[in-house]
Amino acid sequence: MKNNIPFVIAIDGPAGSGKGTIAKKISTKLNYHYLDSGAIYRVIAYAAKKKNINTESIEELINLVKHLKIEFFENNEWLNGNKVSEFIRVESIGKLASQIAIHDKLRTLLLEYQRSFCKPPGLVAEGRDMASVVFPNANLKIYLSASVDERAKRRYKQLISKGNDVNLSDLAHEIKLRDKRDKDREVSPLVIVKEAYVIETDNLNETETVNKILSLFDKEKRC
Ligand code: DC
Repeated sequence: MKNNIPFVIAIDGPAGSGKGTIAKKISTKLNYHYLDSGAIYRVIAYAAKKKNINTESIEELINLVKHLKIEFFENNEWLNGNKVSEFIRVESIGKLASQIAIHDKLRTLLLEYQRSFCKPPGLVAEGRDMASVVFPNANLKIYLSASVDERAKRRYKQLISKGNDVNLSDLAHEIKLRDKRDKDREVSPLVIVKEAYVIETDNLNETETVNKILSLFDKEKRC
């Protein structure tokens, strides 16, 4: 941190690339703040589903968001004072989050909230447009990537361990569709910005990936 300006690490990547776990571990190691931007879209998707909102209508969505209080504390996500962590982590909500995330006005509305997480000594922010749109001046930009098969296997293990009944090829299919939607949308698509370090994680475990990012962090901090 120079002159009390927070050091920002932006980590982007497709669904199931391990961004969540990796970003959280890095923020803990560095004692930095943490932003899971996908969780914001997920909480909104969950609220929209509960209230039967037409998610194709940006007016309805904006009106909904204005009445939502989304908070992160005690390692959980809260919606209007209620803990919603377990409800937002299901595949159907991930899919709906990706569908609502195409709306430009909604994304713009969420910018200020996301940026409010940027506080000293620093922030680890993960999502799809952290390096490109939300924190374009981030000090370190990482793009985590992994093949569809590897990401489907990881998701499968995660969901099975939580007792869900899932099918590996269905998961791979869903991941491909989500990649397409997140990469092809007109506003803030998932892109690899030119300053990003691309880390291919198919053959790396979590510790190896975390260490790679931490060594890039050390390098950037020295500059
Ligand atoms: O990272 P995740 O799987 O929890 O994100 C769920 C969806 O939210 C993702 O498919 C697209 C959307 N999203 C987004 O558009 N921009 C972000 N910065 C983070 C997530």
